[in-house]
Amino acid sequence: MDQDAKKKAVARAAMDHVVEDAFVGVGTGSTANFFIEMLAEVKGRIEGAVASSDETEKRLKEHGIPVVPLNSVNELPVYVDGADECTKYLHLIKGGGGALTREKIIAAAADKFVCIIDDTKVVKTLGTFPLPVEVIPMARSYVAREIIKMGGRPELREGFTTDNGNVILDIHNLLVLNPVEIEERLNSIVGVVTNGLFAKRPADVVLVATDEGIIDL
Ligand code: A5P
Repeated sequence: MDQDAKKKAVARAAMDHVVEDAFVGVGTGSTANFFIEMLAEVKGRIEGAVASSDETEKRLKEHGIPVVPLNSVNELPVYVDGADECTKYLHLIKGGGGALTREKIIAAAADKFVCIIDDTKVVKTLGTFPLPVEVIPMARSYVAREIIKMGGRPELREGFTTDNGNVILDIHNLLVLNPVEIEERLNSIVGVVTNGLFAKRPADVVLVATDEGIIDL
């Protein structure tokens, strides 16, 4: 099975977690895009969606799915999104698409975070995928120096501005042996908006597409 077929299969599997007559949180990226297509098939049976990025909002609307701001939703039973890396502890690196802050906010607000990945994303230790950090533009150099002190090599994502008007530093060469500690440490650097480690609030369910079918990690 090719990677797109796996992404499609796992997106379909996530449909079992969608709650009827309720809002659903929708992530960002190529796997989440397949989920949007599946969601469109049942759009009459959900209230609508909360989008984790401008891009996702646009796609949802193109598929005729009503989009509401997170602030107007009292309860969000489920959030469905992809990831860039995942361990067996359901700790994740996200933000390859740069939408990490809104993704983290929606994951925090949701009762259940269902992560959908293909088997290339499962790793023993996080950190081979460069860890994205969203930074207020004026703090960029200061934050980069602090990251170097932590042993990482920050690289500015050239020509990219987040939906919140900020920049992204991608941290290379940072082996994430203690994800919760590193997540907290990065977040405590002044000027950091958030980072792509989802460890303090990991996924609740990780569905993995393999050649043999869908595995619930
Ligand atoms: C978006 O900012 C990311 O967190 C994505 O969820 C992540 O990069 C996975 O994207 P793909 O599904 O395209 O691999």
